[in-house]
Amino acid sequence: MGPSDLEVRLERFTLDDLEEARTLWRSTGMWLRPSDEPRQMGLLVARDPDLQLAARDAAGRLVGTALGGWDGRRAYVYHLAVATDSQRQGIASRLMDELEARFLARGALKAKLQVLVGNDASRAFFRARGYLLESDCEPWGKELVPGGAPPACCDPAAPEDLRAAK
Ligand SMILES: CC(C)(COP(=O)(O)OP(=O)(O)OC[C@H]1O[C@@H](n2cnc3c(N)ncnc32)[C@H](O)[C@@H]1OP(=O)(O)O)[C@@H](O)C(=O)NCCC(=O)NCCS
Repeated sequence: MGPSDLEVRLERFTLDDLEEARTLWRSTGMWLRPSDEPRQMGLLVARDPDLQLAARDAAGRLVGTALGGWDGRRAYVYHLAVATDSQRQGIASRLMDELEARFLARGALKAKLQVLVGNDASRAFFRARGYLLESDCEPWGKELVPGGAPPACCDPAAPEDLRAAK
């Protein structure tokens, strides 16, 4: 059974939550990019303040995040993460229920996201929610500033000895 709404509450994520969130993200194995720096996060939060969600437990500890973006055509999910000691209690499901409801309210027809190769927990989570791996498109991108690529320890394409050097 998942925690009750009183035990974990969903709130708006703001820049005040960023440092705590960065610690949470790192602790779940996510790696941070230039987009996670305060200035860049400020752009996302300022553009779509109502699509940024934080989950806090009864003690006020940040236990989950789900960040959203809406560009008028597609809705994007970023940084869905739940503290390792709070996983499998339905917190990510609550965050995504809320985020998807907000996407729909904005007029979005589809939500999209990227899952790093090898992230089996995330794949299982999104598959269970009805998300599909879309094989008709290849994800393409270009880093417009240096430093956006994953560190070798987290890059499935990196040589094994570098990946082991975590
Ligand atoms: C993916 C993640 C957000 C799921 O959070 P969570 O709060 O544990 O998810 P929920 O409890 O809402 O899980 C809902 C359902 O998803 C599936 N699921 C979630 N985690 C799973 C796992 N590790 N293995 C298999 N299925 C899983 C199950 O069907 C689960 O239902 P169940 O517990 O009744 O079996 C969490 O594992 C996480 O933070 N991972 C690290 C960060 C990350 O990789 N984020 C995704 C970036 S794309």
